[in-house]
Amino acid sequence: MKQILMIEISPRGRDSASRAVADTLAARLGDLYPSAKLVRRDLAAEPLPHLDGITLQAISTKDPAEAAQLQEAARQSDQLTDELLASDLLVIATPMWNFGIPSALKAWIDLIVRPGRTFQYADDGVLGLAKGRKAILVLASGGVFTDGPWRPWDFVEPYLRQILSFIGIVDVQTIRVEGMNIPALAPDAVPKANKAVEELAL
Ligand SMILES: Cc1cc2nc3c(=O)[nH]c(=O)nc-3n(C[C@H](O)[C@H](O)[C@H](O)COP(=O)(O)O)c2cc1C
Repeated sequence: MKQILMIEISPRGRDSASRAVADTLAARLGDLYPSAKLVRRDLAAEPLPHLDGITLQAISTKDPAEAAQLQEAARQSDQLTDELLASDLLVIATPMWNFGIPSALKAWIDLIVRPGRTFQYADDGVLGLAKGRKAILVLASGGVFTDGPWRPWDFVEPYLRQILSFIGIVDVQTIRVEGMNIPALAPDAVPKANKAVEELAL
């Protein structure tokens, strides 16, 4: 394990359940892989821009002269993509917001899902160029989505698994921090998730 990339999204700082559990996971990974570099990318502290026209052109042009001319516009997407591809393990610690992912995380995804870098269309479909890497999702939510009537409302885990498999990352484990808004469940949600982190097969 050379590098672990941890993406954190919640703007709730020390109150954040996903960050608290991500800290537990970071400590366990640090014990297991003391020589691995842990890169923590905090999208609340350093928000990313939405993918705009010039960046889109810069990262999708097939014309080498235009690519050279638009190098600066591609810089941030290049950096984020290099960072991901240099990592063996990706951790995404995110809240559920309005049944989906926060737009801050979507902005990161839009900058790293790139033709020729992380995926490539082939005759028989799509080739994920980030294959071989693993991912762990730490998903915090007010409700419960692993089971029960709200399960179909979860557009976080299915979407993240889909987009990660699109770029070739299919070895994905999930830690749930759920029931944060349910009084009977909230006190145990982080301790339960921390226990699940300790039991993760890593
Ligand atoms: C803007 C916003 C939208 C939310 N939407 C949902 C939701 O759709 N479903 C849900 O179960 N919880 C929802 N919640 C609750 C959060 O998922 C919950 O508080 C979780 O702990 C947030 O993660 P964090 O503690 O890491 O910030 C929402 C919270 C906020 C602030």
